[in-house]
Formats: sequence, structure tokens, C-alpha cells
Amino acid sequence: MKTPARLARLGTPLSPSAVKVMLLGSGELGKEVIIALQRLGVEVIAVDRYPDAPGHQVAHRCHVIDMTDPQALTALIEAEAPHLVVPEIEAIATPALMALEERGAVTVIPTARAAWLTMNREGIRRLAAEELGLPTSPYRFADSLEQLRQACAEVGFPCVIKPVMSSSGKGQSKIDGPDEIEQAWLHAASGGRVDAGRVIVEGFIDFDYEITQLTVRALDAQGQPVTHFCEPIGHLQVSGDYVESWQPHPMSAAALERSRAIARQVTDELGGRGIFGVELFVRGDMVWFSEVSPRPHDTGMVTMASQRQSEFELHAKAILGLPVDASLQSPAASAVIYGRHEARAIAFEGVADALAVPGADIRLFGKPESFARRRMGVALATAEDVETARSRAREAASRVRPVTTA
Ligand SMILES: Nc1ncnc2c1ncn2[C@@H]1O[C@H](COP(=O)(O)OP(=O)(O)OP(=O)(O)O)[C@@H](O)[C@H]1O
Ligand SMILES: [Mg+2]
Repeated sequence: MKTPARLARLGTPLSPSAVKVMLLGSGELGKEVIIALQRLGVEVIAVDRYPDAPGHQVAHRCHVIDMTDPQALTALIEAEAPHLVVPEIEAIATPALMALEERGAVTVIPTARAAWLTMNREGIRRLAAEELGLPTSPYRFADSLEQLRQACAEVGFPCVIKPVMSSSGKGQSKIDGPDEIEQAWLHAASGGRVDAGRVIVEGFIDFDYEITQLTVRALDAQGQPVTHFCEPIGHLQVSGDYVESWQPHPMSAAALERSRAIARQVTDELGGRGIFGVELFVRGDMVWFSEVSPRPHDTGMVTMASQRQSEFELHAKAILGLPVDASLQSPAASAVIYGRHEARAIAFEGVADALAVPGADIRLFGKPESFARRRMGVALATAEDVETARSRAREAASRVRPVTTA
């Protein structure tokens, strides 16, 4: 697949020489990408579905639109005419991006096809398993409760049922037998987005651990395409949502080599430039492909402490066609800070205590509204080894106390 040339030069924001980048989705991950772009004098336009999203607060301009509405999305991209469009979330009218890309109106990161394929579990799963032949859990798709019963019988128990369009574990259930199928179907219908009603059933993989293999497609100093691999990130998921991550995760040489071979195959196929979060399950030396995000990954927030260049800086540089350095600087860990309250404009106490933990640092995302299980910030910590880093990050996160202000 052809890799587009690097941008010839960087310019001055808010002037005719500006390089303009539009983020579709401006949450905590987008906010950090925007900060990295700002440091290179890029003009950034942040888009989200609600006002005062984290990335809105650090961009040159911001817009609030329904990004699943193809007309609204096309009109905004045409009006702003950015050089690059950078999807930060999955819930976007990706066919509209494909149409814009096709007529040369814009470059989508990494490509519009990659954004389209990965927004739907079916697209990426069929590509990985059926076209690339990568090892995955056994799977079936279903559009009705009847089909789901059949699909579960074929896949076997335990299995995991997920809406084809959902993220952060929404609408997902692990079930152990036929009695639980109906409940899982109803749960999926409540948690999916866009076309509720289609689900994937995956055989449950009894893995030893799971990793995110961050993979960067960039250009080197000579302008040649090159793939970089970050050190593997280990993580802990609760109800399908990440609560802790650490880097590097210890792995056998064989498992690491297989992981990277899978990551290379899938990212080569998706093409374009930027960072990808390749999610893999590992047992012994066996590795299964789970899914891939063609953008920074939430578990990769640890790289703000662990790497010379965070995943956000790597993404910003790679999309501009600049060379990157994906090396590890120190073992480190991240631990999520949840809102714990259902309220607007919450406050955070105990931040000074959190920062008193050796090697610790804090990010608060500035989200205008808190929910009990909404990710509002993250604690980071470095240490000589990952176990110490994990306990430091957990300790720092636990010292931050979200409070309501009303
Ligand atoms: N087939 C499976 N076998 C075992 N565990 C699984 C399986 N599928 C999912 N899980 C567990 O659930 C987690 C979330 O699953 P998955 O990544 O598919 O959902 P998601 O909604 O896309 O989550 P996110 O958006 O946070 O990546 C996985 O990281 C893993 O811990
Ligand atoms: Mg996942």
C-alpha cells in the first residue's frame, strides 16, 4: 500500500501557512494528541458531540456536531478544509470520510478504510481471521435471539457476547451457559451504538495475560516508511474497561515475536501513517489477535511516563510524516481515576498527597460532567520495576478524591 509523502513543511497556526489538523473526537486521548500537535505549531480544530470536551479546551477552534451524521460531518470538513482528519473515536460516519478521501478532499488518519473497518467488530474480525489468517477466538455473528442461541451452541461455552458496534466493554457479557443468552442479548441491545441488534459471539480465551502492542507506521529521516514497536503494555480490564496498565509487560521471546508479527501484518494491511493499538491475548507462547484501534489506545496513557515520546507524540509526529522514537525510558504504570459521582463540575481533593507518592504524576482531563464510572483522570508512576510502578500508580490514584461542589 502506498504511504503518502510527508508534509513538505510546518507553518504558523492561524495564518495562510498553517498546517491544519482536525480531531474527530476530543476526549482525553485527543486532548494529548492536540497538545503534541500544538507543540509543533500545528493549527488544531477539535470536534466532539458535547461542548467543553477535554480536547476543545486546548485547540485553536472547536465544534460540537453529531459525528455519526454524514451530512454534518462532510459540511464541517469542507468548511474547515484541514490537511489531515484524525479520528479519535469509533462512532463516526466513516463512509462519509471514505467519500471525501476518494475525491481527494482530505487525508484521513491512518486511512478512511481503516477507520471504517475498525469501527465495526465484524469488519476487522473478518479481515484478521478470514483474509489475513491470524489466530483469533472462534466467532459467529447474530441478528436475533434465535440466531444468537444457534451461534452460542456453535461457539461453545463460556463465550463473550458483544454488540458489533461498541467500545469500553459497553453491552458486553461473558456467559457460561444457555440460560444466560437472553440476558446477554438484552444487555447487548442496550449497550451498542448505531445499528443495535447485531452481535458477535466469541469463544472465551483463557489467557495468561493480555497486552496492547502499540505499533507506529511512520517515515524515517530519509522519508522511507518504517514500522516501530513500543514495548508491550500489560493491562487489567474490569467489565471490559481498562483500570490499570503498565509497561513493559514481561513476555517470552516467542510470544513477543508472534505479537509483533501479528501487529505488523494487521497494520500493514490497514496502511497509512500513525499509531495503532493492537490488542492481543497471550497464553504461554500462543498469541491471539483480539482487535486493533488505528489511533492512540487508552491503556497507552502509561507512555506519558514510560516512554521518551508518549503514544500521543508518536501519533502527532507520525501523521505529519516526521521520524519518531518509540523507545522506553523507564518502567511505569497508570491507574484510572473514576468520577465516583453523578454530577457536573466536580472537584478533586488530595492531588498534593497523590503527588507525594515517589515517581507519581497526575492528569485530570477536565471533563465537564462526572459519572460514577467515567474516567476523569489518570495517575502515572515510574519505578525501577513494573510491580513497584503499579503499586505507586494505584496508591496515587486512590489519594485523589473526587468531590461534588454543588
Ligand atoms: N474472547 C474473549 N476471551 C476472553 N476475554 C475477552 C474476550 N473478549 C473480550 N475479553 C475481555 O474483555 C476486554 C474488552 O473486550 P474488547 O476489547 O473486545 O471490548 P471493547 O468494548 O472494544 O473494549 P475497549 O474499547 O476498551 O478496547 C478484553 O480486553 C478482555 O479482557
Ligand atoms: Mg478492546
